[in-house]
Amino acid sequence: LSRKKGLVSLAVKSLKTLGVEERRILGQQLNQLKNQVENSLSGRKSTLLEQEQKGKFETEGVDVTLPGHAFPSAGIHPLRRVWREMEEISVRMGFTIVSGPEIESDYYNFEALNIPKGHPARDDQDTLFLSDNLLLRTHTSPVQIRTMEKQKPPIRIVVPGRVYRRDAVDATHTPMFHQVEGLVVGEEISLADMKGTLQVFLRALFSHDTRVRLRPSYFPFVEPGAELDISCIFCSGRGCRVCKNSGWIEILGAGMVHPRIFERVGYDPNRYTGFAWGMGIDRIALLKYQVNDLRLFFENDIRFIRQF
Ligand code: DAH
Repeated sequence: LSRKKGLVSLAVKSLKTLGVEERRILGQQLNQLKNQVENSLSGRKSTLLEQEQKGKFETEGVDVTLPGHAFPSAGIHPLRRVWREMEEISVRMGFTIVSGPEIESDYYNFEALNIPKGHPARDDQDTLFLSDNLLLRTHTSPVQIRTMEKQKPPIRIVVPGRVYRRDAVDATHTPMFHQVEGLVVGEEISLADMKGTLQVFLRALFSHDTRVRLRPSYFPFVEPGAELDISCIFCSGRGCRVCKNSGWIEILGAGMVHPRIFERVGYDPNRYTGFAWGMGIDRIALLKYQVNDLRLFFENDIRFIRQF
């Protein structure tokens, strides 16, 4: 049928050499032939298409009535659970969740937090250095500085994140663990605000009747600094194995932001005061879920995670 070389097309062209009558009869017959060929071609085409479809249904079809395969699933990891719970409580209390880099400079991790080179506090935090100036952050406190450099008071932030220390692995140490930092800055923020805020937070996290107490302590970036204990969540303070019969469990470090820190980020220390705290998520998860070995959190054994 092709226009230039097709037999039918050539025959149609040669019609003009014939007489009127012959041309009429032959013309009709050629037309019929052309229709026949076209019909059988399109018939064949749709048969082939149908066969192709059928083959696809047979080889690629899905029987939606067959029973499926259940994906093995565990549960929300206990560390993530505590992490989320802390975030939820903080947000309800009016805090904003922020984060910062895990690779930090010496300046943010130490210098800006009043821990100059040679300061003994550097020895407490066995640091994993990447170069002279770069390191894996040893705590979430550098995000205090990063936030204050960018924002003016009032500040209410909570910073959950991973931190790193050069520790040998045992039941209570892993080279990577998790902390939550908190920072409140404004006018007329007092130590009483700190104690009250932390009490509300810890009561939401542990129990409505959890009591808190502050013990004087030292951290270079706060003055005064304190360690905060909660009444033992297992014996309510009567004394048990977990609290070693003291009735109290140490839970976090805190204090009033050191005026020198405000100066460094350009806040007027005569106008602004604030408090900060830092606590370990892993330690709290160990306590809350009565797990006796930190390594269980990192092995990801599905039988362990399924229990949460
Ligand atoms: N950054 C401290 C640490 O890792 C914890 C800490 C203590 C944070 C007191 C604070 C604070 O914000 O006020 O040991």
